[in-house]
Amino acid sequence: MTLLELEDVTASYGPVQVLDGVSLSVPENGAVGILGANGAGKTTTLRAISGTVRAGGRIVFDGKDIRGMRPDRVAGLGIAHVPEGRGTFGDLTVRENLRVGAYLRKDRKGIEEDIDYCLDLFPNLKDRIGSNGSALSGGEQQMLAVARAMMTKPRLLLLDEASLGLAPSTARNVYDAIHRLRTESGIAMLVVEQNANLAFSLVESATVLETGRNVLTGTSAELKGMDEIRRAYLGG
Ligand SMILES: Nc1ncnc2c1ncn2[C@@H]1O[C@H](COP(=O)(O)OP(=O)(O)OP(=O)(O)O)[C@@H](O)[C@H]1O
Ligand SMILES: [Mg+2]
Repeated sequence: MTLLELEDVTASYGPVQVLDGVSLSVPENGAVGILGANGAGKTTTLRAISGTVRAGGRIVFDGKDIRGMRPDRVAGLGIAHVPEGRGTFGDLTVRENLRVGAYLRKDRKGIEEDIDYCLDLFPNLKDRIGSNGSALSGGEQQMLAVARAMMTKPRLLLLDEASLGLAPSTARNVYDAIHRLRTESGIAMLVVEQNANLAFSLVESATVLETGRNVLTGTSAELKGMDEIRRAYLGG
């Protein structure tokens, strides 16, 4: 079953068109990657889905046409966006950030259980539970951003460059935790990532964007085997 389908999606900032017909689909419980150079339109594709940029074409989630829907309504349907640059609240503590993620939920017991689950997934956060977001390291902030998105109990997680600015071992930790989350929760994921090795460790298939359109789509195994992908994204 397809959970999310994009067909010929376009988007512009003012007069400048930056998405020129992006198509992709994410199966229920699946994980799909978006690769591409700087400025290719990866972030804009996620924004088109979460309703933070106006888009053309078709965007269907769980059978509903969500194109043009307000961001809060999209979130309400179960799509959580972890934006580039993290977007955690610096003047709230780790625990408060996690509670903010759950603000639409009423199940108090479930919320506390999910906070415990997040802390188990990201033990670094457990040690910093009372610290302000602004006092966390880059890696800890990234973990908090993912954990906060989790607290909304999403059906689909949009993840934008979770490894950006992190030391390789920290990035690996973050991806290992996301991988575990996937295995244990079955949450579908659409993952933008410059580091193709990390991306391919998580996703089953991916699409490559170039100036706002798909130029290649395939399974992770197929893409890893292609010379142009190896040269552009795998350092060899
Ligand atoms: N808020 C904005 N206003 C105007 N132009 C923008 C805005 N955000 C992005 N753009 C432009 O749109 C194009 C696509 O940007 P986008 O952020 O989607 O790329 P990206 O693939 O995520 O790149 P990166 O890997 O650098 O994050 C780029 O040319 C960028 O300069
Ligand atoms: Mg981007």
